[in-house]
Amino acid sequence: MCGIVGAVASRDIVPVLIEGLKRLEYRGYDSCGVAVFNDGLKRARSVRRVHDLDTQIRETGFAGTTGISHTRWATHGAPVTVNAHPHFSRDAVAVVHNGIIENYEEIRADLRAAGYEFESQTDTEVIAHLVNHLYKGDLLMAVQAAVTQLRGAYAIAVFCQDEPHRVVGARYGSPMVVGLGDGENFVASDAMALAGTTDRILYLEDGDAVDVRQTQVTVYDRNSAKVEREVRIVKAQDSGADLGPYRHYMQKEIFEQPRAIADTLEGVAAVTPELFGDDAAAVFAHIDSVLILACGTSYYAGLTAKYWLEAIAKLPTQVEIASEYRYRETVPNPRTLVVLISQSGETADTLAALKHAQSLGMSETLAICNAPTSAMVRQTKLTYLTRAGVEIGVASTKAFTTQLAALFLLTLTFAKLRGHLSEAAEAAELRHLRHLPVALQSVLSLEPQIIAWADKFAHKEHALFLGRGSHFPIALEGALKLKEISYIHAEAYAAGELKHGPLALVTDQMPVVTIAPNDALLEKLKSNIQEVRARGGQLFVFADADTHIQSSDGIFVIRMPENYGALSPILHVVPLQLLAYHCALALGNDVDKPRNLAKSVTVE
Ligand code: M6R
Repeated sequence: MCGIVGAVASRDIVPVLIEGLKRLEYRGYDSCGVAVFNDGLKRARSVRRVHDLDTQIRETGFAGTTGISHTRWATHGAPVTVNAHPHFSRDAVAVVHNGIIENYEEIRADLRAAGYEFESQTDTEVIAHLVNHLYKGDLLMAVQAAVTQLRGAYAIAVFCQDEPHRVVGARYGSPMVVGLGDGENFVASDAMALAGTTDRILYLEDGDAVDVRQTQVTVYDRNSAKVEREVRIVKAQDSGADLGPYRHYMQKEIFEQPRAIADTLEGVAAVTPELFGDDAAAVFAHIDSVLILACGTSYYAGLTAKYWLEAIAKLPTQVEIASEYRYRETVPNPRTLVVLISQSGETADTLAALKHAQSLGMSETLAICNAPTSAMVRQTKLTYLTRAGVEIGVASTKAFTTQLAALFLLTLTFAKLRGHLSEAAEAAELRHLRHLPVALQSVLSLEPQIIAWADKFAHKEHALFLGRGSHFPIALEGALKLKEISYIHAEAYAAGELKHGPLALVTDQMPVVTIAPNDALLEKLKSNIQEVRARGGQLFVFADADTHIQSSDGIFVIRMPENYGALSPILHVVPLQLLAYHCALALGNDVDKPRNLAKSVTVE
């Protein structure tokens, strides 16, 4: 999604501005741009890749010591050049912006009345004109005055013609960091953008503004009082950029899952609250329920965990889509553990849901997250870091299975605290968890069979996914993967729901992917399979070795390993990831950057 880099230096900072955008590219964007001061404000923009922007500016000798750059993921206005950032106001003020300004139409009307002309359809352009309108010789003061009029979420970086050695940043609801260099300083929407440039990072808080100059950085809080924000050393994470033998990051990340799970479980010798933080024992002791908040794939991890937490730990658990929860009237319970699940830790809806829960007095919060320095990790009391490594493919894969591993540990922890896990059972569950990487390897070896299925599948227009119990969320995740990257319309149902409506859709043109673990619901599921077959539907069944489901007319079976007990969902999602991947590949789609989507969804 949108990315920001800004710099003030004594050298040409264009390479830093472009390199920063390259580091943020994997998040998804549809246009990009850069502006510098060089005897006036100069700008270059592109509706293609950062590489094209780079080529464009190299050809024109574009350079400057102060500047800002941006990758845009369109919200207001199509991805065309005039909507790409930076936006200028009368060649005097330049702005880049992440987030959404909700009251931009009102502000635009006022500014039009004051004589400002708008060239884009964006909400961002109002910020440029507003800062210009309020500018009375001090950029910081103009920005501070402007943001008091903005409603919504923003991270902005601004510079102006009259004070060319200064960049002012401000944030509310969208992340922004400051990077400290020697005789040069930076702002960015993520520390990752500055990797290789500086590792001394300070994180702005909501309502902060920052005055960035070559040799000095000053932070002001929402009341315009000077504040100190802690400087942290943020080591560049391995970008995971090397594809190795794989064609796409998604394929690489699917195959990294055994390693990612092993890393996520590293050091777990026993089930103990301390796995979730030093204060966890005290917090967990008075918890009587769990509320999980997340979006997309992370939400499906939460749905799976609900089955575990209620069945194994006997702990009442509610799972909510973050964007729904934040606007819904709920009954808060201060003894609820609020669990946020997120790969990026920067998802705007999940962060807002966290804030909402906290505002309702629910202060016992735990983030299960893959980004150690993310806002979510900084804003929750407890943390479990998944160690999936950087996930570049927009379609989440290894983040999901590592989230599940962490959630299973959480389940075991509560089961033990509540007297539902004997010592022997704990040892057995830990053995099972540790064996997961090996079990995953054997599932990954099914890829050739899945490629053969993808050929049959790729040209279908619709697909149904069926699962029961803790494998229903896996069916939802499988359908999401197929939609995201192959653009095949896919829906998932709890198999028992079929006859309550969706069965009407079943014809010989409707492939029905069925997840068939050998669990207590197997016989029920076999009846659901027959219901589909009787209507001419074609079944593609991932069946555990011990289910005795055989391939026959209209029923294709891929045999999974033997049933893996409660952890079976972690194994069953993998062939669905591979199926989606190979369908997308067969269709020639951009697997890692599917249309319209972004990796990190930092706007509401
Ligand atoms: O970073 P998060 O886990 O908070 O992201 C949540 C969703 O945006 C994400 O899982 C999305 O659904 C993925 N593209 C799914 O593959």
